[in-house]
Amino acid sequence: MTSAPPASSLSRLIERERQQFIELRPRSRALAARSRAHWLSGVPMHWMADWGTPFPLSFAAAEGTTLRDVDGIEYVDFCLGDTGALFGHSPPTIAGAIAGQAARGLACMLPDERVAAVGEALAARFGLPFWQVTQTATEANRAVLRFARAMTGRSKVLVFHGCYHGTVDETMVRLRGGRTIAREGAIGAPFDNASAARVVEFNDFDALQSALSFGDVAAVITEPVMTNVGMVLPASGFLAALRRRWASGPCDSRRVCEKSLIHVDSTGMSRGSARVSSSASGRRRATAARRKLPCGPITSTRCISGCSIAACW
Ligand SMILES: Cc1ncc(COP(=O)(O)O)c(C=O)c1O
Repeated sequence: MTSAPPASSLSRLIERERQQFIELRPRSRALAARSRAHWLSGVPMHWMADWGTPFPLSFAAAEGTTLRDVDGIEYVDFCLGDTGALFGHSPPTIAGAIAGQAARGLACMLPDERVAAVGEALAARFGLPFWQVTQTATEANRAVLRFARAMTGRSKVLVFHGCYHGTVDETMVRLRGGRTIAREGAIGAPFDNASAARVVEFNDFDALQSALSFGDVAAVITEPVMTNVGMVLPASGFLAALRRRWASGPCDSRRVCEKSLIHVDSTGMSRGSARVSSSASGRRRATAARRKLPCGPITSTRCISGCSIAACW
């Protein structure tokens, strides 16, 4: 076994990389400084300041899998807009379709003439009959949880420790010492987040069973593979057990569900598969997990420039 390098040499290495990053990117640095005057945390969306770089890069253009910053440096983009650019950046077909639509009107507050055909195509492809569209995954998740509460008459959601499902208050929780607590940094919640949730560890069959036994969980919300806490693949049989044994019962004719529902948040799935793709066995398990998605009553995923949610009842 090789021993870890001493902390001092690691710090020197990090400092050298930091300096080089700063020197090679004067334009990004200047734009970041200027942006700090009027953008909270210097960025239009606060998480854009979360990367481990001395300042955020400003991008000039992106095409396919290549991203070019304002200093002319090119990067291979493994994030692809966190799945919003799943087919690469600005592929001509999609760029053309967006430009065409922009010329026909963008905000008409009415369904487009092609909406019926799109609904048919979604139902045929994913096997879920009823669809809604939201702008972000957060909104999709929020809507799904409301549906679930209405359908089950139950008040809580069950999430897995380390999850991220957007800024949905009741999912901003963690497990500490076996207790559900509000996640640190989730400021300004309208209620105690922990009061609306139960948290268990992903892949912990016993904890899941015991949390659901209280009978107050409207929905279990999960990613098929946990992608926001490193990469955690489902243990063999975990998703199947979740679907078959504890949650996702059929609703009766009044659309009332007796059991907790499952909500699969697939927002990060392409990012997830990119991260596990370094090992062949990881790739196989991620693909298998995707195929076995517990597509119970409700599922959501991010599609190009938006998110879709579906409820089947
Ligand atoms: C699994 C998952 N759900 C939801 C979200 C929130 O997405 P949005 O920013 O579109 O609300 C994210 C964002 O990273 C995510 O990874």
